[in-house]
Amino acid sequence: MKLVPKHKPFKKTKHGSIIQADSLDVLRDYPDSSVDLIMTSPPFALVRKKDYGNVEAEQYIEWFQPFAEQFHRILRETGSFVLDIGGSWNKGCPTRSLYHFKLLIMLCEEYGFHLAQDFYWWNPSKLPTPAEWVTVRRIRTKDAVNTVWWLSKTPWPKASNKRVLQPYSDSMKELLEKGYKAKKRPSGHDISTKFRVNNGAAIPPNLIAIPNTESNSFYLRYCEEKKLSPHPARYPAELPEYFIRMLTDPGDLVVDPFAGSCVTGEVCERLERRWVCIELVREYCEAALGRFVKDPKNTDRSESISQDNASYYKIPRPGVLWNGESADPLAQDGGKRRPHKPSGGES
Ligand SMILES: C[S@@+](CC[C@H](N)C(=O)[O-])C[C@H]1O[C@@H](n2cnc3c(N)ncnc32)[C@H](O)[C@@H]1O
Repeated sequence: MKLVPKHKPFKKTKHGSIIQADSLDVLRDYPDSSVDLIMTSPPFALVRKKDYGNVEAEQYIEWFQPFAEQFHRILRETGSFVLDIGGSWNKGCPTRSLYHFKLLIMLCEEYGFHLAQDFYWWNPSKLPTPAEWVTVRRIRTKDAVNTVWWLSKTPWPKASNKRVLQPYSDSMKELLEKGYKAKKRPSGHDISTKFRVNNGAAIPPNLIAIPNTESNSFYLRYCEEKKLSPHPARYPAELPEYFIRMLTDPGDLVVDPFAGSCVTGEVCERLERRWVCIELVREYCEAALGRFVKDPKNTDRSESISQDNASYYKIPRPGVLWNGESADPLAQDGGKRRPHKPSGGES
């Protein structure tokens, strides 16, 4: 597909380009059914706003509508739209906003998208926020997952989970080694002997565990060297990579309309997908150039992740510490009154 001349690329690479513009302006000029994957993370409706500005939860759905219209129009019948969107708290209140669920319902019911699957990106390194509810009043737990809505134009987007297999867990390996009796599970599912076949790797669940802990990447070193602020809300490269691998083939076109630091573009360049990253803020585009510098030190590659079980995250079963009742009775006001001093225990 030809790039629209009115939007001169800020940077062109072998497989793609960064465009500094309002993505609505750019996408309006795209032909119908021309894009294989829209992989993006828009500004979330956060109470604590980032530098690039965030739309309030109440206005979010309306703000998103013109984007939704363009996304649906430019996507191929076989294409997918993957939206990483974090939840949000209601201002001054220990309750959650429904905006990302409302957005999903609007995308499906008003714009005709299909929910191919809902994914949950668990960031094990998330801090316990908002501190007021989580660490001070101790009335909520840490919010550590983003929803990732995988939407499609038809119920049959092209996809293969064989592209995103993961190593077997220790218990599965043991099972494969020692074998087990085919029997009915308590859930009623019949576990046949087919499950004993070692296929070399496991089919992943829709919970994706990736810590967002980048601290010494080439991108960050580049920003420091050029005195540019790194983007404050980057997703880890493995997140777009997961969907780019599962949903596109080399040569397909991937668009990120809220590109930020252009992680999506970096992954596409490496995987030889054609790509367009559109970002409004010039400084973010300037910093993103660091992702495409040809330099022997620029070796941030997710293939370097170890293949052994060290790459597994373990979540303890909730009951591990349930040995007796806690001494503190629950506050009858649900924590409305602030405690004089925060209660102790594990934080
Ligand atoms: C959550 S960030 C994306 C971060 C990105 N996924 C990364 O990993 O670096 C959202 C970005 O959308 C940009 N943005 C907001 N509205 C836009 C628009 N209309 N057109 C293009 N970019 C926009 C913001 O400037 C911000 O950088």
